[in-house]
Amino acid sequence: MTNLTDKCRIRRALICMSVNGLFRLMQRDIERVLFDGPAIHKRLDEIAAQIAADYRDRELTVIAILTGTLMFMSDLLRRIPLPLKLDCLSVASYHGKTQTSSEVTFKQLSVPDVAGRDVLILDDILDTGHTLAAVREKLETAKPLSIRVCVLLSKRKQRARDVNADYIGFEIEDEFVVGYGLDFMERYRNLPYIGVLRKELLEQPNQ
Ligand code: IMP
Ligand code: MG
Repeated sequence: MTNLTDKCRIRRALICMSVNGLFRLMQRDIERVLFDGPAIHKRLDEIAAQIAADYRDRELTVIAILTGTLMFMSDLLRRIPLPLKLDCLSVASYHGKTQTSSEVTFKQLSVPDVAGRDVLILDDILDTGHTLAAVREKLETAKPLSIRVCVLLSKRKQRARDVNADYIGFEIEDEFVVGYGLDFMERYRNLPYIGVLRKELLEQPNQ
């Protein structure tokens, strides 16, 4: 006969098995891993050192674009030993599943107060350039002292808007990637690495 502690242990093991199973299913959707956790962290050490050197003796104002920058923002900012202020902007630019539109919608009504400040915009990925161009234009209306852009990933492609990033984690080919904050239809953000999503998943009508 199994006692209560045994039953709890069995239940916990079953939950653990099904959770691991679901995580493995999600991993099967990845065609190949581009950057694993240690590679990302090593690169963040380098970018953080560069930012800290460039902004020494100044107070930085970081404006992070949600939601894709969550992991990147928290790992990068903890490596920057400078006084800084942080604000987040939430924007929507996807009007299909993977195509960014030129119509970038801001979810906040007011522009962050960045007058006279050294602003560093953080975004997960530079693709067409629509999002960063719109965010930059919006912040410029608040008259900051300077604006620079830092992205975790930059796709090698012709951009729709002329935007450059001052700090780039990794340059990648024009492929759809997920993980470490990046999503496809809000999924895969919690993968601890960045990988290319299997092409056939991008074409499925309903997910
Ligand atoms: P852009 O406006 O086309 O430069 O795209 C910027 C936004 O589109 C990013 O902040 C991402 O949220 C999203 N995005 C672009 N490419 C990818 C990708 O390969 N994977 C996941 N999200 C992407
Ligand atoms: Mg996204």
